[in-house]
Amino acid sequence: MEIVFPRLFFAGNRLLGERVENVSRTLGDLRGIFADVDAFSRMPQNILAYEVSSFLPEQEGTPGGLYFGITYLHPGKVGNEYFMTKGHFHANIDRAEFYWGLEGEGMLILMDQLRRVWAERVFPGSLHYIPGGVAHRMANTGNTLFSFAACWPSDAGHNYREIADHGFAARLLEVDGKPQLIGV
Ligand code: PA5
Ligand code: NI
Repeated sequence: MEIVFPRLFFAGNRLLGERVENVSRTLGDLRGIFADVDAFSRMPQNILAYEVSSFLPEQEGTPGGLYFGITYLHPGKVGNEYFMTKGHFHANIDRAEFYWGLEGEGMLILMDQLRRVWAERVFPGSLHYIPGGVAHRMANTGNTLFSFAACWPSDAGHNYREIADHGFAARLLEVDGKPQLIGV
């Protein structure tokens, strides 16, 4: 029997190991996703909005494979809209995904193909099943770093186009100090 060292481990805010990829998104990378264009243009574009550290053990598109990632979403707002991820459908639209909360507080915003939107509170230990055909985006509703983990099929892919072109049918805004989903 062989006992081996794990292939993958955490080091601070990062996964370490082979086939780990780290991606950063600045505010400038998120141009077009926030409602308040004036507030957006007054903010420094090089602010770090989020980082994703992913373990991608198989070639993208491998049927039956799994990917794992942790997203670190910084606190902040553009006008009264919370910092959020770009959001996407999966390129293979029927592929599902799990998200779960690690630290801080946030909201998972979901939209089906009929553009019906709903949201789930995310907190350390909360678990979220995102069915196939449902676009997903996270928002940081707190004042501290919000991090969450994700596990998705390696043949899911990301379709950012749909959301970049048409957005979500509702926005998560701070109203009287609380997050509220407002239809657009
Ligand atoms: O696979 C996922 O859904 C996540 O790992 C996201 O890619 C991550 O949270 C960043 O969001 P987005 O890909 O919408 O920029
Ligand atoms: Ni996804």
